[in-house]
Amino acid sequence: MEYTLKQSNDYLITHAGRINMQYRPRYHFAPPVGWMNDPNGVCYFRGAMHVFYQYYPYDTCWGPMHWGHAYTQDNCVFHHCKVALAPDCADESGCFSGGAIVKDDGGELVLMYTKHYETAETTRETQGMACSSDGVHFSKREAPVIGTADLPEGVCKQDFRDPNPVLNGGEYLIFVGSKSEAGEGLILVYSSRDGKNFRYRNKICSPYFGEMGECPDFFTLDGKDVLLVSAVRVKEEENRFKGCNSSLYLLGKFDPETCEFRVEHSDEIDCGHDFYAPQTCSDGEGRRIMVAWMEMWGKEYFLHKFRHGYNGALTYPRALSVRNGLLYQAPAPGVEKYRRRTDFSQETSKCLDFTVHLAEGGCVGISRADCAEDRICFGLRGGRVYVDASRMKNAPQGVRVSKYAYGREVRVRVLMDVSSLEIFADDGKETFSERHYFDSEKVRVTAENARCEECYELDVPQEDFTILG
Ligand code: FRU
Repeated sequence: MEYTLKQSNDYLITHAGRINMQYRPRYHFAPPVGWMNDPNGVCYFRGAMHVFYQYYPYDTCWGPMHWGHAYTQDNCVFHHCKVALAPDCADESGCFSGGAIVKDDGGELVLMYTKHYETAETTRETQGMACSSDGVHFSKREAPVIGTADLPEGVCKQDFRDPNPVLNGGEYLIFVGSKSEAGEGLILVYSSRDGKNFRYRNKICSPYFGEMGECPDFFTLDGKDVLLVSAVRVKEEENRFKGCNSSLYLLGKFDPETCEFRVEHSDEIDCGHDFYAPQTCSDGEGRRIMVAWMEMWGKEYFLHKFRHGYNGALTYPRALSVRNGLLYQAPAPGVEKYRRRTDFSQETSKCLDFTVHLAEGGCVGISRADCAEDRICFGLRGGRVYVDASRMKNAPQGVRVSKYAYGREVRVRVLMDVSSLEIFADDGKETFSERHYFDSEKVRVTAENARCEECYELDVPQEDFTILG
């Protein structure tokens, strides 16, 4: 099948919102129809955060990748836009992940993406570019801007993807996911003075890059250079790297002269079951905002299995900071405006924003309104925060435990939506992202040895499925 942009947009306009709304998030982004995975090209452009995403409109499972597109002005309500890229060039069987840069003070939006080409005999990945002056309609440059000939010795020719362009003064730096011929994950660094001709500069290695480094994201924050990498099959450690793939951060110093990254600390970004491929951008007010795919590879996808017409979601946008040599995450501003005070005493809506103090042995359970056994819970045991998702009737997951110990009490903020739970422990020192699917409209929240500081219901307007552009 050949894919065109027109065909995907015709399909989107007729099918957007023709989905089962039972588990539809109210204030988290999810595609209007079809499958999504990684966020792409996350950027602030003309007063809004734009999120593109790996998209297959025609089914609820992964397929030839397009770039879907949406934007938000308050982190809660997303506006769906036309598909930005379709795999419509001769050297593309998919437009894989990549990033964006905003040029000329908002005059132009430039996307970099991977031209993934696959036949029965070969796979080839090169980096392409597309530009737009209105942020909705993009024109591609036909030829790759970084090709296979630009790869250094000893690097795998097939797996070379997910370019992350950043402007560093007058120079472009591009971080690209890769692996060595021996199968160790790598990030390759390229640079360019004119944004057209790219030169290979160096490679960044880490024992935590697993079998392939994907979706790099580089930025400077609070005096540190930070590189996010999503890595395939990282070797499991105690309370770390439990997923099929893992997202991690490196903190340290990047030298733009040599393109070396001196790592001072690295760790997993999120401890939960459903978090991968995060990307960041600056929100124009100095905040560094991160969103990730709130799912993981290698799962049986509940919404696909039950034919809900769409699959995948993003985390709630998180504001990052570096404190005491660690990366902290906090819900970005936005939800406050939709809050209405409530408490745990009765059945509640699934859309909650609450803060609790967990004492040692304490636990908060969220269960189906009419069935206490169908539940997900989190608590503090042996000084560690845990999430137990093993007793959910639909799509049970296991138990995850924090890497850090918190003593006899820890304060935890929770953002819950119709089918997700995001836990920010100790002011966001660690987070857990989880999906859940309770068969009741309301849920019951119970707390033992846990004091609720505040609890709000979030009343976000109904989603509008109009496709803009
Ligand atoms: C990460 C990833 C990327 C790739 C994309 C394909 O989740 O595997 O490396 O570009 O998804 O959809």
